[in-house]
Amino acid sequence: MNPEHQNSLLKVSGVSKFYGTRPGCLDVSFDLYPGEVLAIVGESGSGKTTLLNCISTRLMPTAGTVEYRMRNGRFGDLYRMSEAERRMLMRTDWGFVHQNPADGLRMTVSAGANVGERLMAVGNRHYGDIRQTATKWLDRVEISEDRIDDQPRAFSGGMRQRLQIARNLVTGPRLVFMDEPTGGLDVSVQARLLDLVRGLVNDLGLAAIVVTHDLAVARLLSHRIMVMKDGHVIEQGLTDRVLDDPREPYTQLLVSSILQV
Ligand SMILES: Nc1ncnc2c1ncn2[C@@H]1O[C@H](COP(=O)(O)OP(=O)(O)OP(=O)(O)O)[C@@H](O)[C@H]1O
Ligand SMILES: [Mg+2]
Repeated sequence: MNPEHQNSLLKVSGVSKFYGTRPGCLDVSFDLYPGEVLAIVGESGSGKTTLLNCISTRLMPTAGTVEYRMRNGRFGDLYRMSEAERRMLMRTDWGFVHQNPADGLRMTVSAGANVGERLMAVGNRHYGDIRQTATKWLDRVEISEDRIDDQPRAFSGGMRQRLQIARNLVTGPRLVFMDEPTGGLDVSVQARLLDLVRGLVNDLGLAAIVVTHDLAVARLLSHRIMVMKDGHVIEQGLTDRVLDDPREPYTQLLVSSILQV
């Protein structure tokens, strides 16, 4: 094995996904390292969500492999492990933050239960401990303690997104997937949320893959950027390099904002 790969957290090789004959993503390969934040950028329809869903096993690719370094240090082949093993990873080692908080929360149970539920899924049974940890995490995402018994449907969009983040991080994941985490929010709320996410990712040393069509989000959060076009990765590199000195004409267009929506 290439010694460089030994430290990887995730090894993605040749991942392609077709929807019938229409390509979603094509022959994507990259490694992600522990604590690294990777942004996947590109215009609408370029394949960002398809790729993220394949890597996180929410979608089965047409071809390719993804290996993940488990807590025991061994690599597990994500598409070959059992459904139960994958579910366990999703509940413990991984988080998935959806663009729409309603997809990642239970809207009709309390905020505290939304966070507590993840703890129970990993074996916590002590009500007092669960409530205490939930309170701590709500505080960490700037939701005041007196909202713990409210349902997320009584929260603003920004609060819901912060609650979704707390629910995902409470089990101490090593890798978090985010699809347009600030997508539906207005600009001032986005800025605060990004600050919060950046702080948490730094403090916890999380690795993350963040899909966004907003280069400002990529600039603020990521160490590395992958640019997608028509399902292909056409350019990748360190965030500052890609944004300050883009090599591909398409990336140059993106950066000069002609293609940004
Ligand atoms: N469930 C599906 N069935 C058929 N085609 C799909 C499906 N999901 C995505 N596609 C197609 O795959 C391609 C990539 O779509 P994808 O949703 O991955 O793009 P994206 O970069 O996430 O776009 P956006 O920024 O709009 O979210 C597009 O051509 C899209 O039409
Ligand atoms: Mg998408």
